[in-house]
Amino acid sequence: MSEPVFRTVIEPFRIHSVEPLRMTTAEHRRAAIHAAGYNLFSLHAQDVLIDLLTDSGTGAMSRDQWAAIQHGDESYAGSPSFFIFRDAVRDLFPYQHVIPTHQGRAAEKILFGVVGGPGKVVPNNTHFDTTRANIEFTGADAVDLVIEEGHDPALPHPFKGNMDVAALDALLRGRGADVPLVMITVTNNSGGGQPVSLENMRAVREVCRAHGKKLFMDACRFAENAWFIRQREPGQSGRDVADIVRDMAACCDGMTMSAKKDPMGNIGGWLALDDDDIAQECRNLLILTEGFVTYGGLAGRDLEAIAQGLTEAISHDYLRYRIESTAYLADALGKLGIPCIKPAGGHAVYIDARAMLPHIEPLEFPGQSLAVALYETGGVRSCEIGSVMFGRQHDGSEQPAAMELVRLAIPRRTYTQSHIDYVIEVCEQVLASAADLPGYRIVSEPPALRHFSARFARV
Ligand SMILES: Cc1ncc(COP(=O)(O)O)c(C=O)c1O
Repeated sequence: MSEPVFRTVIEPFRIHSVEPLRMTTAEHRRAAIHAAGYNLFSLHAQDVLIDLLTDSGTGAMSRDQWAAIQHGDESYAGSPSFFIFRDAVRDLFPYQHVIPTHQGRAAEKILFGVVGGPGKVVPNNTHFDTTRANIEFTGADAVDLVIEEGHDPALPHPFKGNMDVAALDALLRGRGADVPLVMITVTNNSGGGQPVSLENMRAVREVCRAHGKKLFMDACRFAENAWFIRQREPGQSGRDVADIVRDMAACCDGMTMSAKKDPMGNIGGWLALDDDDIAQECRNLLILTEGFVTYGGLAGRDLEAIAQGLTEAISHDYLRYRIESTAYLADALGKLGIPCIKPAGGHAVYIDARAMLPHIEPLEFPGQSLAVALYETGGVRSCEIGSVMFGRQHDGSEQPAAMELVRLAIPRRTYTQSHIDYVIEVCEQVLASAADLPGYRIVSEPPALRHFSARFARV
């Protein structure tokens, strides 16, 4: 008998312990977001019903991860938990040096503290906000070189996260001496969670080799990227995701990682690389800021949870559910006529707020307006990725961002299909009153990463 096929993509797990959600009224939510200066990061999480602010550190750990936590060894130096962690990392990313950090941005801070500096320039397909901020903090420039198709939200393309190889080559010809290394972010979070093909990674590696440059991967969503490669890239179907990940790693000389994403940790990260001299300088900084080289700002128990999470992240049953359940949300919004980045990303659905709220000028933050409305209407917390996040330039001026997006990020293994059906209904209600939503202006903001703490008022 042939294998029966079913329409419903079920969660490939059952629930083992539960957390209550707190129901709130619209009146309560309007007061809460007003008190928070219309910044969703400033809300109390207890006032949020469905939290799609981020997929970072918000996933549900498995039974086996909690068991691994019990196995954690808290020795200051040389803990066995470090070696379990290091070997799990190296199984997929076989770099010489594995340096644990408390999260991804700590790895970025250390790496660019060593290789960055005034006059330098670091290309990427699209820098994530913390990567850009850490590069710019050293006085270097962060340049985005995603392919042209990556800028068009409505254009379907299988690998919209790909790097523009010709543009990279041109940059390296013109300013090669200023480039300490090239980054590539998989999947491309700021560009809609879009994947990068293996073919593109190999082409980028060739250009880097030709110019004598190292290539580093921002690997936060490596497993989702590998699944997309398996699904979409000619010649890759039927392969084991772990082998595709190893092929991605082989294109690069090192990586930064936030273990709060695909590695299924609630906290953690690492920096891994082959270069002995850079690794030594990074370890020197690590000891100054994070901790000893075998724990780097983490407890032994965290290192073990990540090691176990890495084995779960590459499960085909999990990845099939993960990618298809994100697409389920995107498809439903598309059917309602809500413009979303096409195709759906791996970890998130990105609503095109510029297209949905054309009456709001980019510098009056249509994405912020939509995110506030989703919260007020149904207690759904999302994240603006547009001119609030990227509008302020290095020189202090304001420029509209390339896209005005609202990201609905899906925490791993946390919400069920009925939660997502509720989110779809909330979006439908917001769409009905979209023409009445107001713009916003910033009333106070910090010097860097303003989206985390700026306060807003309605225009
Ligand atoms: C692509 C990418 N790089 C880096 C980071 C930073 O990681 P962390 O939040 O652990 O500092 C993130 C976090 O969202 C990310 O998505």
